[in-house]
Amino acid sequence: MSIYRPTSIVVLTGAGISAESGVDTFRDKDGIWAKVDYRDVATPEGFTRDPELVHEFYNQRRSGLAEVAPNAAHVALARLERAFPGKFLLVTQNIDDLHERAGSLRLTHMHGELNKALCAHCGSRHPWHSAMSRASRCPSCQEIGQLRPDVVWFGEMPYRMDEIEEALASCDLFVSVGTSGNVYPAAGFVEQARYAGARTIELNLEPSEGCGLFEQAIHGRATEIVPEFVEHLLAGR
Ligand code: NAD
Ligand code: APR
Repeated sequence: MSIYRPTSIVVLTGAGISAESGVDTFRDKDGIWAKVDYRDVATPEGFTRDPELVHEFYNQRRSGLAEVAPNAAHVALARLERAFPGKFLLVTQNIDDLHERAGSLRLTHMHGELNKALCAHCGSRHPWHSAMSRASRCPSCQEIGQLRPDVVWFGEMPYRMDEIEEALASCDLFVSVGTSGNVYPAAGFVEQARYAGARTIELNLEPSEGCGLFEQAIHGRATEIVPEFVEHLLAGR
């Protein structure tokens, strides 16, 4: 029987929820940042310095999405959203589209999306599923060389923070899945939820940087512990 009887849930996910789908995480021993210097491909300065290097980095990750599929953890969170009668928000740091493909609807990509382009000239956003380069033309203003991946880089502000902070201020259950708790502001969400009086639980392969801030922690593979957690939560209603 679940010890939780929430009325409003916020779930935060990180790269770890997509790991078993075959999407590399960032800070695991064989993660992305062990192979590529984040300053070259995940900062505005890196994009100014060498835009083609950045386009190639995201082109590879974008084309890789065709090879991967949502896993049982993504599917479990979509089930929780459908079956939960209260308020529900899924905030992901991930830029892949696996939550959408698993059926999640009340979803916010705080670090942007791999399958979107942002025009630095006119500020428009567009679905983008193919390779992008300096020769790419903005579908709105027709400018060439002004498109960038619609991804939030180090030093930039994440998206939809007002919506996220409003949800954290009124939730009574905060669940963190598959994030190392290294990058702010996402790493601080657990404290905001606790301040609002929420129960807090971490579901992760191993203790994260902020594990001690959570009331409870369950460690294991997301495809095992997330469906189990959702099952208990729904059984306990
Ligand atoms: P930060 O201080 O939030 O995080 C910096 C992170 O960079 C640290 O957690 C550390 O783990 C990592 N880091 C430091 N040196 C590294 C290295 N050599 N290799 C790999 N990782 C390294 O960063 P910030 O500049 O304050 O960024 C905060 C903003 O940027 C936040 O809004 C965050 O959401 C956003 N952001 C987005 C992305 C992205 O790729 N989408 C990446 C990072 C941060
Ligand atoms: N099941 C559950 N957790 C897992 C699994 C798994 N199968 N595999 C890895 N993990 C955990 C790791 O233990 C780690 O704590 O997922 C976490 C992944 O952490 P990071 O690689 O740091 O990814 P994330 O926390 O999402 O990074 C935050 O940093 O570089 C930026 O924008 C980037 O959104 C990213 C942000």
